[in-house]
Amino acid sequence: MTSTPPDETEPAFATRQVHAGQSVEGAHGARITPIYLSAGFAFDDFDEAADRFNGGEGYSYTRLGNPTTTAVERKLAALEGGVEAIATSSGQAAVSLALLGLLKAGDHFLSSRSIYEGSRGLFRDVFPRFGIEVDFVDDQNDPQAWRRLSKPTTRAYFAETIANPRNEILDIEAIADAAHEQGVPLVIDSTFTTPYLARPIEHGADIVVHSTSKFLAGHGSSLGGVIVDGGRFPWADFADGFPHLATPTASGEASFVDRFGSRAYAVFTRDVLASRLGPTPSPFNTFLLQQGIETLSLRLDRHSSNALALATWLESRPEVASVDYSGLESSPYAELSRRYLPRGAGSVFSFTLHGGEQAARIVHDNVALFTRMTHLGDVRSLVLHPGTTSHAHATPAELAAAGIDPGLLRISVGVEDPRDLIADLTQALEKLPAGEPADHHPRGNHTARDHSTHRAAVTQV
Ligand SMILES: Cc1ncc(COP(=O)(O)O)c(C=O)c1O
Repeated sequence: MTSTPPDETEPAFATRQVHAGQSVEGAHGARITPIYLSAGFAFDDFDEAADRFNGGEGYSYTRLGNPTTTAVERKLAALEGGVEAIATSSGQAAVSLALLGLLKAGDHFLSSRSIYEGSRGLFRDVFPRFGIEVDFVDDQNDPQAWRRLSKPTTRAYFAETIANPRNEILDIEAIADAAHEQGVPLVIDSTFTTPYLARPIEHGADIVVHSTSKFLAGHGSSLGGVIVDGGRFPWADFADGFPHLATPTASGEASFVDRFGSRAYAVFTRDVLASRLGPTPSPFNTFLLQQGIETLSLRLDRHSSNALALATWLESRPEVASVDYSGLESSPYAELSRRYLPRGAGSVFSFTLHGGEQAARIVHDNVALFTRMTHLGDVRSLVLHPGTTSHAHATPAELAAAGIDPGLLRISVGVEDPRDLIADLTQALEKLPAGEPADHHPRGNHTARDHSTHRAAVTQV
C-alpha cells in the first residue's frame, strides 16, 4: 500500500484552486496574475544579464519561463501534491516531454494498451525513431502482466487514471508498487480526473501529466498540458537507469540530484529538455488556464453528477445495449471507482446502441444540445463516434480488444441542466426505427471499411 493521506492542515481544495500560486507582488497590485505577453524580459544591467544566464532568479525569455505561466504551474503543483509543475503547449507535448525526461535511445518502457490514441501513436510510431522501445500491457490492472513484460532496459511505466472510451479505472497503487519493484517511476496521465477527482501521487505515482485543454481549462478555448513531478522517486538508487539525473554532467558539474534534490527530474525536464525542444505555452493560454482552474471543483461536481444522471437513465433505455461508466454499480470498475474517485467518476463515458453503426449515426446526427466534436472536458456536452473517428485507423482486432462496437458513442457530459440533456437524447433516440434493428452487431464486430491499410495515419482526441 503506497497511498498517503491528504494533509488535513492544508486549506481545502476549493480554497487552494483559487489562491495557490497567486501573488500580487510586482504586478502593480493586480489581483489576478496578468498576461505577460512578452517574448523577453529586460535586464537592468550587465551583471543582471550574466546572472540570468547562470541560473539566477528572474525571467529572461518566455521559452525559459514567464510569470503568467509560473503562477499556473505553482497552482497545479500545489493542487496535484507535487514539488514542481511544467506547463506545455498541449497535452501531447506534456506526454512526450514527461517520457523524454526519463528515456533515451536504447531504453524501453511499458504502457497500458488502454490509453488515448494520440499517446499510443506517439509511442508506437514516433518514439521508435529515437531508439525508444515500447510494449503495451493488455490487462492494465494485473501487476504480473507488467512484471512479465519488464526488461533490464525498462525505465518507465505509463497508464491513465481513467481510460477512454470504456471508462477503465487504473489500480494505481498496485501498478505503482510493481513499477517500484522494478526500480522505475510510474507516469500517470490523469486528464480525465484532474487533481480534484484523483491525486495519483498520493497513491504512489511519481509523475502526473494532464492535457489541460480539457477539464482544467474547462472552456474549450485553448490547448495546454502540464507535467507534475511528485518529487519522491529515488533516482540516485537507480543511477545506472537514470544517469542524466543521478551522475555528474558531461561538463563535470554535480548531478541534478545533488544540485536540486527532490526537484531533479523537474529541473532537468524544464531546463534541458523543454528549453531545447521548445513546447512552450503562450502566456495568453496559461492565463485562460488559470481562470479555468479557479472554478474546477464546482464544474467537476456538476460534470460528475450530470454524468451519473445520464448514465443511470441511459442504462434504463431499451435502445441501449450497455453503458460504460464507472460510477454505475453495474460497472466492473465500480469498486476501483469508489476507491480512487470518491468525489465523482468524471463525465466522459460511452454507451452502445442496439443497431450498430446505423443507430449510432442516427443518434449522433439528431442531437441538438450535444455538439458533435472531437474534444472532451468542456462545459458544453459533446458527442463522438470513436469507431469512425478517433479509432478509425485501428484494426478490427484492436477495436474488438478495446471493446469498441460500431454502435458505441462517447459523450462528454457538460454542466448544462441534466433534464435538458436527457430531453435532447430522448428525442434523438426516438428517431431510431422501432423494434430491434436487423443490423445489430455484437461488441467489436466492426463493419466499417478495411482499416488495416490506414494504420500509419495520425489519430486524434
Ligand atoms: C487522455 C489524454 N491525454 C492527452 C491528450 C492530448 O492532449 P492535447 O489534445 O491537449 O494535446 C488527450 C487529448 O484528448 C487525452 O484525452
